[in-house]
Amino acid sequence: MNAKNTGARTGTLDIAVAGGTGTLGRHVVEELRARGHRVRVLSRRSAQYPVDLSTGEGLVAALAGCDVVVDAANSTSPRSMRATMVDGTRRLLDAERAAGVGHHVCVSIVGCDRVPMPYYKVKTEQEALVTAGGVPWTIVRATQFHELAASAFAATVRARFLLASKGVTLQPIAAVEAARAVADAAGSAPCLGRIEVVGPERTDLRALATAWRAATARSAVLLPVPLPGRLGRALRAGHLASDHPHARGTIGFAQWLAAEPAPQK
Ligand SMILES: NC(=O)c1ccc[n+]([C@@H]2O[C@H](COP(=O)([O-])OP(=O)(O)OC[C@H]3O[C@@H](n4cnc5c(N)ncnc54)[C@H](OP(=O)(O)O)[C@@H]3O)[C@@H](O)[C@H]2O)c1
Repeated sequence: MNAKNTGARTGTLDIAVAGGTGTLGRHVVEELRARGHRVRVLSRRSAQYPVDLSTGEGLVAALAGCDVVVDAANSTSPRSMRATMVDGTRRLLDAERAAGVGHHVCVSIVGCDRVPMPYYKVKTEQEALVTAGGVPWTIVRATQFHELAASAFAATVRARFLLASKGVTLQPIAAVEAARAVADAAGSAPCLGRIEVVGPERTDLRALATAWRAATARSAVLLPVPLPGRLGRALRAGHLASDHPHARGTIGFAQWLAAEPAPQK
């Protein structure tokens, strides 16, 4: 990982990670603990700090005495994404102000404000709340995780096809490497700005599908589904990638796949 982020604080911090059991969050928790911080794992099913961002339950107890909050919670369900990430951010920031938390780290997505999809609209609203929320903040924008690409391909392969729309530029990153950039931000002073972290290769959906099919030895047709309209234009224009990131991972998709256990047939 080549990061330009500087300004690491010294000493042990008390850090709460909302969504600390998720794809990204669990690596953030490991990384922060390895760096000597005291870390609390917050999620609905956390044994230690059960918290529900969609109701605010558990937040007061979970944030007492915290220096930093990392928000790595997520929902992709149309029914709950707004309650978790927009209303949830509002609740989280209210509780942080009451607890005197000094730094809110929001995990977001490269280009979310430039790609017209409901999930990205929610992420853009979440970012706006954070920037106006009265708690010193840092937003870490990551590109799509290798884990997301792999699970998206696995979801359609049973029907013997893989979505491989032409020209969709992506720059995916392993969640473990994105987590290092998030941990860097959490251990630094708030930068009141956005930090971008991307994967090592600028590639496209078709190349990722081809690599996944080869690595998993699954037979499936690559389906060049057309993506019309503004969404298609934004994806083909490379709005989900970044030319000038602050940090860049080193593990490409094929290398990441080679290190993963084979998926169940
Ligand atoms: N996936 C990607 O490719 C990608 C790329 C760039 C950025 N991001 C961003 O990275 C962040 C983490 O994404 P992820 O893919 O790691 O998410 P994930 O694997 O779906 O994990 C979601 C986490 O949020 C917790 N959670 C869900 N609803 C909650 C609620 N109401 N209250 C409290 N906790 C709740 C879950 O635990 P419980 O179920 O126990 O509550 C879990 O720990 C998100 O901000 C996402 O936008 C993701």
